Amino acid sequence: MSDKLTLPKPQGPVDGVGEPLLSVEGLTKHFPIYGGFPIKRKVGAVQAVDGVDLTVGVGESVGLVGESGCGKSTTGRLITRLLEPTAGKITYAGKDITHASRKQIAPVRSEIQMIFQDPYSSLNPRQTVGTIIKSPMEVNGINPKGGRETRVRELLELVGLNPEHYNRFPHEFSGGQRQRIGVARALALNPKLIVADEPVSALDVSIQAQVVNLLQKVQEEMGIAFLFIAHDLAIVRHFSQRLAVMYLGKVVEVGDRDSIYNRPRHPYTHALLSAVPEVALDDEVEDRERIRLSGDVPSPIHPPSGCRFRTRCWKAQDKCATEEPPLVQISGNREGHLTACHFPEDPSTEARDEDIVLDPALAALEQDVTKD
Ligand SMILES: Nc1ncnc2c1ncn2[C@@H]1O[C@H](COP(=O)(O)OP(=O)(O)OP(=O)(O)O)[C@@H](O)[C@H]1O
Ligand code: SF4
Ligand SMILES: [Mg+2]
Repeated sequence: MSDKLTLPKPQGPVDGVGEPLLSVEGLTKHFPIYGGFPIKRKVGAVQAVDGVDLTVGVGESVGLVGESGCGKSTTGRLITRLLEPTAGKITYAGKDITHASRKQIAPVRSEIQMIFQDPYSSLNPRQTVGTIIKSPMEVNGINPKGGRETRVRELLELVGLNPEHYNRFPHEFSGGQRQRIGVARALALNPKLIVADEPVSALDVSIQAQVVNLLQKVQEEMGIAFLFIAHDLAIVRHFSQRLAVMYLGKVVEVGDRDSIYNRPRHPYTHALLSAVPEVALDDEVEDRERIRLSGDVPSPIHPPSGCRFRTRCWKAQDKCATEEPPLVQISGNREGHLTACHFPEDPSTEARDEDIVLDPALAALEQDVTKD
């Protein structure tokens, strides 16, 4: 293994969309639901991910954002091949790895790493930090110059931990430090892509920024590409060069960060942005619109027909129930900014006269009243 990690130099273009390192087309994961007695049979499916298209360039950081249950983790697990896709195609560095076997995937497996949300459950409590970080090297038969232990100590230092703590156990560390151990473990194999699944959500707000800064350092200085999963837009705002917004198993809007933040077109992106604190990115936007999205995301077992957001969308019309909006570049959008909506919002997010309050229970009640 080379000394790239200790000599953090960019390994690829880090300032924009390079050649796609990862490309995902129509990625789908349906978890079957079994029922019946005495013979169990398939009675339905959780449509967790349903036709996701996504690219991540060399050294690029892409944020994947959406509410709980919209399929972000499943997408991450499909990309890292921890789950087998139901349909679609995953191309990594020009190779189709969609259904690659363990053996076939071995050479690329080390290049794609994952950082998990929970730094408590993702580290084996019975192993020392040294063993945890070393084990990916052992499994992959990698013997760095100077030995594995030296490499682990270098990695500990790189992520801001004391190399002398090599023999300590996870419980001796704080949550933020444990997540740093997770980062060191992910870096052990010199990856080209890291899928970080809500890496700071479980941490105290006060230390979230420190871990994000560490990841940003890793991304920028080592040229490692990131798919950074988050449930709101605040955390990815500074980290991601490009953003994909997901709703109920689908990407509904994707584009470069400025385009998504300053000229969002999908109603759901407007709603997510209106929930982001301190969003006044430029002086022109003094007062942002307020949209309160209440109610849960509908069940992915029976997603709404047409546009999946229609049950919570204030712009929904008949067409939204019958025709699924394609993810395309709509007029007025910058290149690469794609939106899946029949009746996109105005790009401005200035405050409206009235807040939009979305409460399906209230809406249903109002509908009943008008029927009477
Ligand atoms: N192994 C599984 N079997 C059945 N359903 C699953 C499985 N894993 C996930 N799901 C379902 O798939 C949907 C998407 O889950 P996923 O964990 O990908 O969402 P998420 O966006 O990561 O949510 P969160 O923000 O809560 O982490 C959910 O409805 C979830 O219940
Ligand atoms: S397609 Fe219709 S329901 Fe879906 S987001 Fe656009 S306006 Fe709303
Ligand atoms: Mg998740």
